[in-house]
Amino acid sequence: MSPAPLESFDDDPCVGSTVLTEEQIAERIRELGRELTEDYGDRRPLLVCVLRGAYAFLTDLAREVDLPVEIDFIAVSSYGASTRTSGVVRLVKDLDVDLTGRHVVLVEDIVDTGLTLRYLRRSLEARGPASLEVCTLLARESADLEGLGVRYVGFTIPGEFVIGYGLDVDERYRNMRHIAVYVDPGV
Ligand code: IMP
Repeated sequence: MSPAPLESFDDDPCVGSTVLTEEQIAERIRELGRELTEDYGDRRPLLVCVLRGAYAFLTDLAREVDLPVEIDFIAVSSYGASTRTSGVVRLVKDLDVDLTGRHVVLVEDIVDTGLTLRYLRRSLEARGPASLEVCTLLARESADLEGLGVRYVGFTIPGEFVIGYGLDVDERYRNMRHIAVYVDPGV
């Protein structure tokens, strides 16, 4: 018997309208890469990827920065197996690199309430980096980006829950090339 065909995102009723196409994402990341290249000049930034949602963004962004960057990974979890925040941020995997004197760029997938970012900023600032900036692919229109000190933002989006390009629901849709609204089948 032949195996069941893999599901296609095209036929998935939970994949709603497109928020950002693959091309729009790629173009904006090229611009962000150019900005980082100019801003960091002769400094060697350490890009800290917040797992798991920012993995796709980090991979593409790092290749658009024309400087000898270093990368490291940190993992936090604030959402359980749902689309609602639990309100509690937990460190799941810490960095390997010592941040003392480093120029750190924290690379995030989406800033929603800012809870995750506040937690990460506190934790990383305590380690004595020379500088710490935040680069997020997405930010909610409602997020206080100034208050949170977010320097680089790919796109601001409305409140709907989105999936794709690293963003998931229960670990699904991370490998979708574009970003779409999630249509909750239970609603
Ligand atoms: P915050 O702590 O409320 O800012 O939430 C940030 C984290 O929640 C992100 O890093 C994501 O992992 C997750 N998140 C928030 N909104 C979405 C969404 O629309 N889709 C997927 N994940 C999301």
